[in-house]
Amino acid sequence: IKKIGVFTSGGDAPGMNACIRAVVRTAVFYGVEVVGIRRGYQGMLESDFWDMDARSVGNIIHLGGTILKTARCTEFMTDEGTEKAYNNLKEYGIDALVAIGGDGTARGAERLSNRFKIPTICIPGTIDNDLYGSDFTLGYDTATNTVIEAIDKIRDTAASHNRLFFIEVMGRDSGCIALRSGIAGGAEAVLLPERATGVDELISKLSVDAKNKKTSSIVIVAEGDKSGGAYQLAEHVKEKFNFYDIKVTILGHLQRGGSPSSFDRVLASRLGFAAVKELLNGKTRQMIGLRGNSIVLTPLEEALNASHFKLEDDLMEMVSVLSI
Ligand code: F6P
Repeated sequence: IKKIGVFTSGGDAPGMNACIRAVVRTAVFYGVEVVGIRRGYQGMLESDFWDMDARSVGNIIHLGGTILKTARCTEFMTDEGTEKAYNNLKEYGIDALVAIGGDGTARGAERLSNRFKIPTICIPGTIDNDLYGSDFTLGYDTATNTVIEAIDKIRDTAASHNRLFFIEVMGRDSGCIALRSGIAGGAEAVLLPERATGVDELISKLSVDAKNKKTSSIVIVAEGDKSGGAYQLAEHVKEKFNFYDIKVTILGHLQRGGSPSSFDRVLASRLGFAAVKELLNGKTRQMIGLRGNSIVLTPLEEALNASHFKLEDDLMEMVSVLSI
C-alpha cells in the first residue's frame, strides 16, 4: 500500500477530526502517503482530493464536525457511480481506503471494496451508536453529554414551574442516545423505537408519580419512537392527563456539534491508528471497533447484516425503578 485515501461520509459526528488526525499521522509515520477525500463519496466522484501531511491535521483534535466535510451521495450507489469513483481513485494512485461514517458509509465501502478489491477498513462514526462491530461509535458519547447538559437545564425550569417536559433526541432508528441520556439525566420515562410504550402506559406511570408527590417530570422521546414524535405524544397525553402544564423541546442538530469528549477523542485515535495498521497488515473489508476495552475487526458483510440491538437490559429496567 502506497497511498491511503481517507474520508468522512453521512452525518458528521464529534470525534471525526480526531480520527482523521490519527489516520493521517499513522500513515505518515509508517511512510505511506495519505489523501483526504472531501465530501465523502461525492468528492470521490468529483476527484476532490487533498494531499495531506502531518501538519494538515494540526489543531483539530478538539474540533467537532469534519475538516474533510461530508455528504450523503446517491449517485455513488449506482453501478456507474461506483465505477466512476473507483476510476478516479485509481487515476490518483489511491490504493487503499479508510472510511469514517455510519451505516450508509459502510455499505458504500463494502460495495466499492467488494467490486474492485480495493483494501478498505471502516471506522464507525455516528452519534446514533447503531452499528454492529463496536460497542460505541464515534460521537455517541459527546452527543449524549450534550443531551444531558440540555436535560439538566430543562430540569431547572421544569421544577420551577411544575411542568412535564417531553424532550426529543436524535438517533434515527436507535434508542441508544435516548436511553443513556434518560438514565444520566434522571428522566421519568424514556420512549424507544426498540420497545413500544403506549400512551396509556406512560400516563399511568406519570399518574403514579403525581400521586407520589412528584411536581415535575421529564420524558425522553427517541426520534425513531413509533408514537409519532414528541409533539404528537404530548397532544395525546394532554387529552387524558392534565396534572402538569406540558411543554416540548426538540434538541435537533445541536446534538451533532461540539468539541468531542475525552472518550470520543481517545476512541477516535485508537480506531484511526489501528485502521491504518490493519490495512498495512493486509486486512480488508473490515469494520474496526471497540469491544470491552479491545480493538476488534468484524468483516464488513457480517457487520452490515447482523442485527444490532444495543440497548442494555439493566438500563431499560432501571428507568422506571430509579424514577419512583
Ligand atoms: O445519523 C445521524 C443523524 O443525526 C440521526 O440521528 C438523524 O436522524 C439524522 O442524522 C439527521 O440527518 P440530517 O442531518 O441529514 O438531517
